[in-house]
Amino acid sequence: MWSPRRAAVGLLLSLCVSMAVGGAVTAGSPSNPVVSGGECVRLFHSTGDVGCYSLDKKGTQARLVNVATQEDLNGLALKETSILVLPETLLTKENVAKFNQQYTKGLMVYPISGNSTTYNLDALNPQGKGTIDGALNPTFGNYSWNPVGRDLMGMSFAYPVIQVQSLDAAQQFIKLASKNDGVPTDSSFGVVYRGMMQYYFGPAKMDSPTCLGFTNIKGQRSPKCYPVGGQSSWGVKGDLTSSKPVIIAMAPMDTNAFSHVYAPGANAGASGLVALLATADALKSVPNSSLGKTIVFAAFQAESYGFVGSRRFLADLTAKGNNCGRIITATTPFGESFCGNPVTSSMAISGLSLSKIESAIAIDQVGLSGTTNFSIHTNPNAQSSGIETLVDSMVKSSSAKGSVSKSSSGSMPPGPIISFMNDKEYGNASLTAAVLAGYDTSFPPSYHSRFDLNTSLDASAITKAAQVLAESLFTLAVGNTSSTASAPTVNATLVSEMLICITTNWNCPLMRDYSTPFVNSMIDYLTLTSTSWPSSMQPVSLYSSVYSGNRLPTAVLSDGSGVAIVPDSVTWSSSNTLNLFPNAYETFTRSFLASALGDAQSNPTTCKLTKDCVGTNQECVYPAVCKTRAAYFHDAYSPGLAKEKVAGLFKVVNANMPLWTEPNWDTIGTFVYPDPRSTIGYVALGSGVLCLILGYLLASRFLAHFRKQKLL
Ligand SMILES: *[C@@H]1O[C@H](CO)[C@@H](O)[C@H](O)[C@H]1NC(C)=O
Ligand SMILES: *[C@@H]1O[C@H](CO)[C@@H](O)[C@H](O)[C@H]1NC(C)=O
Ligand SMILES: *[C@@H]1O[C@H](CO)[C@@H](O)[C@H](O)[C@H]1NC(C)=O
Ligand SMILES: *[C@@H]1O[C@H](CO)[C@@H](O)[C@H](O)[C@H]1NC(C)=O
Ligand SMILES: *[C@@H]1O[C@H](CO)[C@@H](O)[C@H](O)[C@H]1NC(C)=O
Ligand SMILES: *[C@@H]1O[C@H](CO)[C@@H](O)[C@H](O)[C@H]1NC(C)=O
Ligand SMILES: *[C@@H]1O[C@H](CO)[C@@H](O)[C@H](O)[C@H]1NC(C)=O
Ligand SMILES: *[C@@H]1O[C@H](CO)[C@@H](O)[C@H](O)[C@H]1NC(C)=O
Repeated sequence: MWSPRRAAVGLLLSLCVSMAVGGAVTAGSPSNPVVSGGECVRLFHSTGDVGCYSLDKKGTQARLVNVATQEDLNGLALKETSILVLPETLLTKENVAKFNQQYTKGLMVYPISGNSTTYNLDALNPQGKGTIDGALNPTFGNYSWNPVGRDLMGMSFAYPVIQVQSLDAAQQFIKLASKNDGVPTDSSFGVVYRGMMQYYFGPAKMDSPTCLGFTNIKGQRSPKCYPVGGQSSWGVKGDLTSSKPVIIAMAPMDTNAFSHVYAPGANAGASGLVALLATADALKSVPNSSLGKTIVFAAFQAESYGFVGSRRFLADLTAKGNNCGRIITATTPFGESFCGNPVTSSMAISGLSLSKIESAIAIDQVGLSGTTNFSIHTNPNAQSSGIETLVDSMVKSSSAKGSVSKSSSGSMPPGPIISFMNDKEYGNASLTAAVLAGYDTSFPPSYHSRFDLNTSLDASAITKAAQVLAESLFTLAVGNTSSTASAPTVNATLVSEMLICITTNWNCPLMRDYSTPFVNSMIDYLTLTSTSWPSSMQPVSLYSSVYSGNRLPTAVLSDGSGVAIVPDSVTWSSSNTLNLFPNAYETFTRSFLASALGDAQSNPTTCKLTKDCVGTNQECVYPAVCKTRAAYFHDAYSPGLAKEKVAGLFKVVNANMPLWTEPNWDTIGTFVYPDPRSTIGYVALGSGVLCLILGYLLASRFLAHFRKQKLL
């Protein structure tokens, strides 16, 4: 989890910098600036780790070495511990293998070509064959969706790597590193520029079962990591209690990248979600009564790490009793009942079953500028008649106009729909399933890279894809019923506003407006301060982050304790509350579905809070009206984990699954400083050097002071 405290350290250091200039260490700027950028963070899985780390709790100090070209790299002969400053183009598996194991203590990589890329750092078969998630994608994992992938994201680097913000920001470090050129290592005279990289994420050998099961010296459980996850959202157009077949439309909410700070996921994450929500909105014009089929919309969280959003959903969908040991009937802002063992926010999933799902459509990466044509990837193991109907509903939709066609890939891309077809786990191999995508045989190079930015997207491409999906769902669900409902139209203004919001500011008016009725209801229900608001990311990253804190539903009992399993001895009463306050992105997603899919009463009543709505199963939704409750959160964490009573403790029930976790950490960061070494003769340095040393010591103490949690 990213900590803003690095910025504070930078500020402290800069105080000294101004004084140091007077010391004239060199003609340049003898400062010790903090390197702003995105760090590669370490994650654990069931048998090991990926990402980057340092084993030195106090941070690693090493000489900066400028590696500007492949020739520099080929001729590199390190003689002391070093941090390589290099363009990201040189970050390849072959080059990484060449780095001196003993002396390479960190990398500072910088972009050289603005905001576009011809490659990314993910695997050739993302979440497929040869990756940690490969076992979860047994049928389609051998297809190389990402041919320009450099396959570095599944590696474990025994040194920190930071992606510097930009080429401009990197210039000063390149300059300092090149000043070290030719400065001998053993010199007792002259300044050498070093970097300080503090990235301690636990000992060298670590995995998720170990860090989740960690106990402290008193023998008490004290996990040093949390599961990657969060809250998915899903909603229903129609009525799950009817026997009508179900069509499910889905999209992933999250993305992945080498650094979770630089995981914008505008195309890989946001575009599909925006299209899905805009489709749900467009179907508002179709009355529930004219549907021959029920439509479920699902936005799955944390798909990039073990497909956990879709897999948890399916695990609970297919399990006897929906994996719930105790249903508690009580009115909360989430509905009329929930599960007490383990605590979940809703039991709505009990109305759905896999056999009711007649077809599944996913929407994926539909926003790239210049996307005029869309491809439909279909399940090759499904019955052809079902697939034909599904494909026709899109290809022959009136907005398609020849721009939508069946893909030639013959495979299915990684995403939530893979879980629905994986019969080795919870899915149905012959499910009638298709993905509407902006790519045909391979993903764009920006996939899972820091350059998957909104600036390379075109909202009109998303609008078009959403329009095709909306017409398809309309055809499939309304079909030849005698309905006179008119075909849905996607709101292009809504699409572009939503895209800007999700990719830049989760506190934007659109997201706030949709979320307000739910947030106000929670503030009232949990008696929170009136200004409480779900958490946001700045800058926005669509990395899902971890399933913990307010993103993990708990029952708060009358003694104030929050538990993940309500003890049998506890009779639920109104002095207990159900606590779940997902982040602003997740809160918005569910709130939006609730507003788009719920049925308004014939005389709509206005409301401020859900409790203002009369009648059962009503929810107060945007724009402050009561509607039939239609949308729910669903936990996204690995089905290989089970909750224990104490919130935040998990036991491993299946260690053969990836079980992604992120270690707890607080202060991490990189800064650069001039090391005067034993420059005794350099009396002239005087106070400048003293200040630098002081600054360095202060910074170390500052870093230590804020290390809230002692790590492993
Ligand atoms: C790249 O994108 C970032 C964020 O959108 C922006 O701040 C920056 O100016 C862009 N850089 C270039 C070279 O286009
Ligand atoms: C992937 O596996 C399927 C089924 O085993 C096979 O038909 C297909 O040719 C394989 N594709 C590749 C690219 O290896
Ligand atoms: C949908 O409409 C039917 C009647 O056509 C009604 O029975 C049902 O409650 C409605 N469902 C919702 C979720 O409003
Ligand atoms: C799997 O899907 C096929 C095609 O939709 C369907 O005929 C079959 O009944 C489904 N199997 C199960 C177990 O739901
Ligand atoms: C898009 O599809 C149309 C109609 O099939 C075709 O004429 C056109 O060349 C395609 N455009 C691209 C960029 O592939
Ligand atoms: C509706 O009925 C017409 C005429 O029977 C048929 O041609 C068409 O394919 C049907 N459409 C759907 C979606 O079933
Ligand atoms: C389209 O969306 C915008 C932005 O949310 C909204 O102001 C407008 O009323 C919507 N238009 C229609 C026709 O619903
Ligand atoms: C893209 O993101 C930038 C900030 O990163 C924001 O200022 C801009 O409005 C966004 N543009 C679009 C088209 O979403």
